[in-house]
Amino acid sequence: LPSHFDLPSGDKIPSVALGVWKSKPGEVGAAVKTALKTGYRHIDDAWIYRNEKEVGQAIRESGVPRQDIWLTSKLWNSFHAPEDIEPALDESLNNLGTEYLDLYLIHWPIAFKKGGSGPIAFKKGGSGYDKELTENPYPTWQKLEEMVERGKVRNIGLSKIQNLTANPLKIKPAALQVELSYWNPQPDLVKWAKENNLPVEAYSPLGGDKQVKETLQLPVVKKIANYLGMTRAQVIISWHIQRGTIVLPKSVTPSRVVDNFQVAALPDDLFTELEEAAVSHKPFRTVNPSKDWDLDFDIFDD
Ligand code: A2P
Repeated sequence: LPSHFDLPSGDKIPSVALGVWKSKPGEVGAAVKTALKTGYRHIDDAWIYRNEKEVGQAIRESGVPRQDIWLTSKLWNSFHAPEDIEPALDESLNNLGTEYLDLYLIHWPIAFKKGGSGPIAFKKGGSGYDKELTENPYPTWQKLEEMVERGKVRNIGLSKIQNLTANPLKIKPAALQVELSYWNPQPDLVKWAKENNLPVEAYSPLGGDKQVKETLQLPVVKKIANYLGMTRAQVIISWHIQRGTIVLPKSVTPSRVVDNFQVAALPDDLFTELEEAAVSHKPFRTVNPSKDWDLDFDIFDD
């Protein structure tokens, strides 16, 4: 399996990252250190995960040079207004203790209104988002392009699909991070992205907290794992890379962090068997905060 994928910028992004969403303070630093010791060179973080400081400290303490690590963070929904972007990015850079990010993603295709209460700056009631910036992410993108030109980030991209195609882009999205798992394999999206030379990153690749148990109980996964002498998680993670996507498994359990990095190509027939099983049931998302945010539309509705 490829250890890296090529981005349109010419950069090479490591195919397996340590995901740190939901990795708690006091746990995440140790997970990052274990990962870097194991050979991971890619950490997928975000401002809203509230663990950038601990992640940054762990990176520095690991002794692995910063330039050897691919570091991603994400612009939170409250900071889409062009004037808010650089301060938000600076905060992430400060937290992580780094001069630059390898990849900065727009976290969600929704801009929250300014001045809401709390860190999420969102008020219940369905009117908490900024319609204009949500419908037209171009001003946000233009400011991100400037951040690339100024060297604060190397690549910019999207998490979840957003409509930028109406505008002339100086820099095309370098990557698209979406939910991809056995439960939500999105074959058409993966195919479309490939045809459009847009690298895809799989979040919640094991099904997330909610579905990981079921994923690892699937008969097809068990069968392949037994046959190949791999763990079940390794089968799933390898399948993602073999589908051509970057994969971001999250764990704070040292043995699992190590386990998840040992990937290997599945023989064609077994890959096809798993792919067919994944795409032949009714798909469902394990992550969809539209309700929590009380939106009057489905955030995933294209
Ligand atoms: P934990 O972090 O407690 O080790 P996803 O990457 O799809 O979001 O899945 C994350 C969930 O899967 C977490 O609950 C994580 O638990 C669990 N997990 C990660 N790797 C493994 C593994 N190798 N075996 C079993 N569970 C795992």
